[in-house]
Amino acid sequence: MSGDANRSSTEDRSTALRLRAERMLAGRRGQESPVPAADVTALVHDLSVHQIELEIQNEELREAQQSLARSRDDFARLYHQAPVGYATLDPNAMVLQANETLAAMVRREVSSLVGSAFADCFADGDRAVFHARYRAFFNDPSGKSMELRLRRSDGEALVARLTATRALEVVGGTADRAARPLLVVVHDVTEAHRASAALQKEKELLAVTLRGIGDGVIATDVMGRVSLMNRAAEELTGWTLDESAGRALTDVLALVDESSRRPSPSAVVQVLASAGAAAVTCRALLLARGGTERVVATVAAPMRGEEGVILGVVLAFRDISEETRLNREIERMAKLDSLGVMAGGIAHDFNNLLTSIAGNMGLAQIHLQDDELADAVALVTDAERAAIRARGLTRQLLTFAKGGAPVREVVALPPIVAEAAALALSGARSRCQVDAPDGTWAVHADPGQVAQVLHNLLLNADQAMPGGGVVELALRNVDVQPGASELVGPGPYVSIVVTDHGVGILPENRERIFDPFFTTKQRGSGLGLASAYSIVRKHGGRIRVDSVPGEGSVFTIFLPALPQASPRPAAHVEPAIPAKPWRILVMDDEPMIAGVADQVLKKGGHEVTVVDEGEAAIKAWTAARESGRPFDLVILDLTIPGGMGGKEVAARLRLMQPDFRAVATSGYSTDPVMANHSDFGFVARLPKPYSVRDLRAIVAELQSADRGGA
Ligand SMILES: Nc1ncnc2c1ncn2[C@@H]1O[C@H](COP(=O)(O)OP(=O)(O)OP(=O)(O)O)[C@@H](O)[C@H]1O
Ligand SMILES: [Mg+2]
Repeated sequence: MSGDANRSSTEDRSTALRLRAERMLAGRRGQESPVPAADVTALVHDLSVHQIELEIQNEELREAQQSLARSRDDFARLYHQAPVGYATLDPNAMVLQANETLAAMVRREVSSLVGSAFADCFADGDRAVFHARYRAFFNDPSGKSMELRLRRSDGEALVARLTATRALEVVGGTADRAARPLLVVVHDVTEAHRASAALQKEKELLAVTLRGIGDGVIATDVMGRVSLMNRAAEELTGWTLDESAGRALTDVLALVDESSRRPSPSAVVQVLASAGAAAVTCRALLLARGGTERVVATVAAPMRGEEGVILGVVLAFRDISEETRLNREIERMAKLDSLGVMAGGIAHDFNNLLTSIAGNMGLAQIHLQDDELADAVALVTDAERAAIRARGLTRQLLTFAKGGAPVREVVALPPIVAEAAALALSGARSRCQVDAPDGTWAVHADPGQVAQVLHNLLLNADQAMPGGGVVELALRNVDVQPGASELVGPGPYVSIVVTDHGVGILPENRERIFDPFFTTKQRGSGLGLASAYSIVRKHGGRIRVDSVPGEGSVFTIFLPALPQASPRPAAHVEPAIPAKPWRILVMDDEPMIAGVADQVLKKGGHEVTVVDEGEAAIKAWTAARESGRPFDLVILDLTIPGGMGGKEVAARLRLMQPDFRAVATSGYSTDPVMANHSDFGFVARLPKPYSVRDLRAIVAELQSADRGGA
């Protein structure tokens, strides 16, 4: 404002000077007297001073003008080079002003834009849209926007977003608000459009891919709520995505254990618990909503966002019912196959043994008819030997049979080991060196089966050293610490180590020696190690082999031990001469067994009655009691097909005579009566097949107990 003040004071001065000069001129004309020289000099001086002032003023004005031009240029630059397009439009959408950015967007000149219809900036299809919406946009632009395709001479498709404000006032324009122009901002949003289109496309691709996958796929958030599922998942679960979105996964994917039918552990919880370290796989039964049940294999893995944060879990699952069925089929075929191999092997071995028995017996008969007793005895001895081998074979086979479960008791291993060593290698070329310390822990085992395992290992060891040699057999207490053994869990064990220095086992055979019927021997049946393996496993133990071909083999067995228990001392049975013969009732439906028992017991001096089923047994028992000559002992077969078995007979006899004496006998060692015979009122048990010696021993034992007790 100082400029203005200057200017007005200069003007005042100019006026004052002019008045003075005019007055002087008027006085000169009227008086015709010359103007005093001093006045003229003063006036000239004042005038020249004034001229200088004017010149200064002129200079100031020029500078002001220049600065004005500069700021106008600045503004124009800002306006034209703004990163967005600007257009000022009148109510009819005619362009009043436009910047260069907008002109560049539509590939036109600013000059051609000004005065033209703004709608011409848009692609053909979008012009009508612009027209349709412009009025409302013009009247109240706040919060509104339009996205339209621009029309460009080069044909490139640009998308523009329009927003606008109403101009506040117009210089020289009208005060009518409705007539005020609209200031439109034009953003190029082509890139954003392209990105969102790409995203959309990716989403569609994902959806199509998911739909195309045959496996069910379900995604959940970290709370285990379903966020996505594909069509296969919908079909397998019976839920649609719409119904299941936001529900707990366990509702939608109801997985239960195949056998217990208890809910399977939540895959989401497992994945999150493992901090997503690994994918979690499982096999379970899927209970679909409609009631369908399918076996599925599932795999669950974490979904991670940026920076590895777990956002949820994705599960894929597959119907493996068909696969399972096929596997069962294959298994069945394999079973039939091995059954074939087994039947072949057994038939062959038995055929040989039976041929030998029958042949020897036939010859013995001839000798007996001729009273050649010595020859007959030799032949019968051969026949017995063959029969014993046949029994050995059945025993191996029985370990695989359903009834082959161990009849376990607390036993001390050293006596069993000593006896097995003596028996297995009697007559062999090899010698057994036994190291069985007295302090060896007891085990809970079936002594007969443990002896069988040792027998098989010792025979193999001997056979591995055709020239004979030393087999070492050692017992050790082993307290396995957690994580110390790959073979067995932590706890107390007795290890049985059988070492030979024979031919050893070729690496390619090492995996197969425990397979049933695997043999490298001309006359082997391949059942020795298979039955050893089966027995040891049924005792909760493990067996392992280490071997160097040409140097020998080491078989190691671990049996769970009972460090605190003291085993029942083995019954020592002196070959008894009965003080008093007993009356014995034998019930067995198998005539051959009944016949042998009859003969053996009669040979021992006893009086024997044989019956083939329960009713007959009870009748015989009652009759004997009534006649005053009751039975001292009854030997009862537990299983009588189609008749009353030993368990029921014993129960009925107890009603008549609580202190009766009965022995249970059966080929099924898993029969609960065999396992806990005394609970059912039996004084002893006699597992089949039993030998003459077994039968004699048990009767002798009972008789001596009777004498001791009496
Ligand atoms: N101590 C060992 N040394 C070398 N090889 C062995 C030894 N023990 C077992 N094998 C190998 O393992 C195979 C299987 O043994 P296994 O005892 O199961 O059957 P087998 O001895 O051949 O026949 P079986 O015992 O039924 O008469 C043997 O044929 C042999 O090749
Ligand atoms: Mg063998």
